[in-house]
Amino acid sequence: MKKWYAVIGDPIRQSMSPAMHDAWFSENNIDASYIPVHVTPENLESAVKSLKSLGCSGWNVTVPHKSAIIPFLDKINDSAKKMNAVNTVKVLDDGTLFGMNTDGRGFVQSLEEMFGKRKSDSAVLVIGAGGAASGIAYALKEACYGPLTFTNRTIEKAHRLSEDIEGSRTIPIGQAEAEISKFNLIVQTTTVGMNHAQSGMPLSPALLSDGSIVADIIYNPLQTEFLKAAKESGGLTMNGIGMFVHQGALAFELWTGIYPDTEKMIRSIST
Ligand code: ATR
Repeated sequence: MKKWYAVIGDPIRQSMSPAMHDAWFSENNIDASYIPVHVTPENLESAVKSLKSLGCSGWNVTVPHKSAIIPFLDKINDSAKKMNAVNTVKVLDDGTLFGMNTDGRGFVQSLEEMFGKRKSDSAVLVIGAGGAASGIAYALKEACYGPLTFTNRTIEKAHRLSEDIEGSRTIPIGQAEAEISKFNLIVQTTTVGMNHAQSGMPLSPALLSDGSIVADIIYNPLQTEFLKAAKESGGLTMNGIGMFVHQGALAFELWTGIYPDTEKMIRSIST
């Protein structure tokens, strides 16, 4: 029987996941389809039950359900537990709902696809302390990047995150801006610069060292003000398309056992 997959979120219309997964299904001759489902927070529990009873084989979870869905799942893996966020669910053969998080690993894979594996002693600055920052920080640590330094508008949130991540520390935004030349890898995870959200930059990268890598997880627009300024200051820049495609590829692999062609997908979305 034809399998089907979904992405649930609120809003969901803007999601590029259906087009991406449908392209991969057809490239790999898999008879399956992937649909967007608009699920509001009050309908989350019934939506999860319905997806299962209607025979959905797996789904992605996006804003604002990544943490809220956890109580409705049967099992989640360790990294999703640490991050308190799930972005991918697989319905196992016995009906078990298994959740995991591919966001952080997706980021690290896109980083390494673009720049190769970096030295394990690269000093990393993570700007932001929300769900995305947490996922990326755990994945970077797992891949032996570090030491990690956090900075955030609300410094207490960065402190809380850094308490959970051994060997990391927190500095105020002003200090991060003044000392930005000390970092080889800077990861911008806040919503500042996103279309329809806030314009501007979380901090200025003007004092960046030449050749530092600067990643912004935003992909709409393709180039945030922060990335443009980092490029002008001599940084090697990467937008959020790679992370988006790789988190999807890891979900696709969980569902089908096949790691799809990410390079072609990144090229087609970027142009
Ligand atoms: P996500 O799950 O996508 O990371 P989130 O958990 O809502 O989303 O986190 C959003 C991040 O963007 C936070 O680090 C937030 O900073 P605060 O902790 O101070 O709220 C950051 N952010 C959002 N709007 C911001 C703004 N105008 N200036 C600076 N940082 C901002």
